[in-house]
Amino acid sequence: MSQSSAFQQVLSAPIMGVGLGIDIFDSQPDFRKLIKHHRSGFDFLEVYSRGDYEHTAAHFADIPDDVPRTYHHEGLDPVGPALCPDGPIEGCARNQALLNPPWTVEELAVRHIDGRYTDFFFPAILNAQCVKATVANLKALAKRIPGPLLPENAPYELVVGDMHLFDYLNEVAHGADCGLVLDLGHVWSYQLCVGKGDQPDHAIEKLDLSRIIEVHLAGARIEPCHGGRIYRDLHGAGPIPEESLYLLRELLPQLPNLKAITIEVEDATEQGAVKQAQQVRKVVNELRPEWLLNASSGEPRRATKGH
Ligand SMILES: [Fe+2]
Repeated sequence: MSQSSAFQQVLSAPIMGVGLGIDIFDSQPDFRKLIKHHRSGFDFLEVYSRGDYEHTAAHFADIPDDVPRTYHHEGLDPVGPALCPDGPIEGCARNQALLNPPWTVEELAVRHIDGRYTDFFFPAILNAQCVKATVANLKALAKRIPGPLLPENAPYELVVGDMHLFDYLNEVAHGADCGLVLDLGHVWSYQLCVGKGDQPDHAIEKLDLSRIIEVHLAGARIEPCHGGRIYRDLHGAGPIPEESLYLLRELLPQLPNLKAITIEVEDATEQGAVKQAQQVRKVVNELRPEWLLNASSGEPRRATKGH
């Protein structure tokens, strides 16, 4: 039994490269077709199952062992005032055992209220109390889920609290001693909320970039709202905003522990998904080609260690 922290565990994971975030229940893109016809278009898959853990085994079994994968869970609600129920925790552990990913992603949001699913991401309230609850939840989850969790900054349509998002992320990452997923579109969604939409990287120097293990990119739609603008995730059903690509170009050279770049492509055609991966790979090739060379494309599944 290893006693290492979630952060230490992900630091020893391989570089995964540029991958596609897919939903196993989507008919488009169909991950089976992506694997069969477009295998050279991505280095790994980030597998999302909508938090389901009762109907996943047959789908997961269709991902061959030689396709590297990470896992995106949902339902742990780590920013809530108390630890989530046992079901999602046991379900997360079960899906991890089936997929054997080097880490598992979970949004820093609440999606369930009193057991009911909300169609809205309630993102973390940005204050000290929420930091305390998030850290306590992540520590409790780390004891019950074998592989390391990587919390992800959620999309913001409104911001509540007196902390800056980057201070909140730092305090969570250091408090729970874990890495982070930085969703670049979600960073911009926050900037739009706080009046910094024209500066997607505003105050980025606050953020401890050594904690960023994975970066997310996705298509989005920007809607006018009360005199401002609001970010709506479209994933594969829209173009990646230029602001997200700007953040990618800014941050790529500054992320010493980057191990994965995931393009979330739910609802894209298979060709569209691969095209977005090419678009991102081109940026990485220009700015950090040696990182791509180190990506372990095709490396067999790496075992996660319990702790
Ligand atoms: Fe994301």
